[in-house]
Amino acid sequence: MKIVCIGAGYVGGPTMAMIAYKCPDIQVVVVDINAARIAAWNSDELPIYEPGLDDVVKAARDRNLFFSTDTHKHVAEGDIIFVSVNTPTKTRGVGAGKAADLTYWEGAARMIASVSTSSKIVVEKSTVPVKTAEAIEKVLRRNCADPNVHFEILSNPEFLAEGTAIEDLEKPDRVLIGGKETESGQQAIQVLKSVYEHWIPAERILCANLWSAELSKLTANAMLAQRISSINSISALCEATGADVQQVARCIGTDSRIGPKFLNASVGFGGSCFQKDILNLVYICETVGLKQVAEYWHSVVHINDYQKQRFVERMIEAMFNTISGKKIAVLGFAFKKDTGDTRETPAIDVCKGLMADNARINIYDPKVTEAQIHNDLSLDKFMWDHPSASGTKSPRQNSVTCFKDAYSACQDAHGLCVLTEWDEFKTLDYERIYASMTKPAFVFDGRNILDHTRLRSLGFVVYALGKPL
Ligand code: NAD
Ligand code: UGA
Repeated sequence: MKIVCIGAGYVGGPTMAMIAYKCPDIQVVVVDINAARIAAWNSDELPIYEPGLDDVVKAARDRNLFFSTDTHKHVAEGDIIFVSVNTPTKTRGVGAGKAADLTYWEGAARMIASVSTSSKIVVEKSTVPVKTAEAIEKVLRRNCADPNVHFEILSNPEFLAEGTAIEDLEKPDRVLIGGKETESGQQAIQVLKSVYEHWIPAERILCANLWSAELSKLTANAMLAQRISSINSISALCEATGADVQQVARCIGTDSRIGPKFLNASVGFGGSCFQKDILNLVYICETVGLKQVAEYWHSVVHINDYQKQRFVERMIEAMFNTISGKKIAVLGFAFKKDTGDTRETPAIDVCKGLMADNARINIYDPKVTEAQIHNDLSLDKFMWDHPSASGTKSPRQNSVTCFKDAYSACQDAHGLCVLTEWDEFKTLDYERIYASMTKPAFVFDGRNILDHTRLRSLGFVVYALGKPL
């Protein structure tokens, strides 16, 4: 059996590496139009940072795992074609700012149809709007010259989270496979199931119809994001009343119906998918006339924007209502720890908010490059996932300096804020940092990872999220 995956990104690369690692009897080829990305997958410097990924790739690469730009050749030879291309939010035209841009997906489907001379199972790995399979099937059928070639479409959404991708792929809560309720649809489900059964217990592989599988992915992300917005909304109330959001989270999380996970109040959720997938859900609801349902889900994004804005306003207010010309150290720029990914990171909005008030910003992140930070701060909303978007430096960015360690970033700063929960920030020498800062020295902990009592005893003025002063 030959598996081919179109798209060597955060999902395509790690998922295919895991399949190849666990299934030595299957040849797996990951193809991409981005030659630099493929070259990186074939080198010692993988294009993404993910704990444990290096070992998995090294064990399988050039054995039964290959990365190539020869898209047509491999797709033509494949039995199962995964499509794991980006599906960003549309930036222009009908549905701009909400609907999913399926340009890359449709391009991939047209290419599959044009090179296929044998029947194939085409797997939606990307997150797509419900009913996408119907459109894709039409594109495949009508663009393939050989009428004997049959395409069976499956939905196999990915639930991995960045930073824990390898763990999530090795021991997933579940794998979801959606297919048509026809004989050939059910057969295709069994073929894909047999791949996952190499390492995942059969009872963890859920089968559903196509539309349920597609919608489950959007719903899972929407509910996860909703949980964060819920606790973040309560963090605002905690600050106003003297309650402590971490205590509230612990008290409610012990109710088994609520559960303890995903209740960390933060400066806001980020990442390439939560916002994009909720907006996509909102758009779908609007197009089928479900205005109230659309508004309900949209409020999850509104609260997230409010949380980021609130964080900036609290900083400005704390620092005597002016941060003009003041140096502020930003610790952490990635959207979460253990990744170098900055897509939709709350740090972008916080930094832009501080820059709008004329602050000078010193940024340090252990995994994000200086070029990436400058690029992110120059792009408009939703432009991050569009390859044509170019990072032109705006004049405001002259107020941004990047550093290679936290101590230099904090030197002479009036305040420091923690925007990513990197473990190394917990064990910094805060006595040294305090001594090097301008007084009064402010700390704004956007992730609640620091020891606030100790920091106060050192002399810092500490603002923790959702906690009394
Ligand atoms: P990505 O941008 O990292 O990777 C997509 C890749 O597809 C890019 O390298 C791009 O060059 C390539 N590509 C686009 N069109 C192509 C074509 N026609 N032929 C060959 N290559 C092509 O995106 P990602 O983060 O891997 O996400 C992919 C999909 O998976 C999205 O729909 C996303 O919503 C979903 N998803 C992402 C995550 C995550 O953690 N990042 C998790 C679950 C699901
Ligand atoms: C999320 C989902 O967890 C995955 O299941 C899904 O596959 C993926 O989106 C996707 O479709 O892309 P990811 O965005 O990689 O994964 O990371 P999460 O751990 O979900 O964190 C998302 C954001 O929420 C981060 O900014 C994180 O810091 C924030 N977060 C998370 C909180 O603020 N509080 C929490 O309690 C948890």
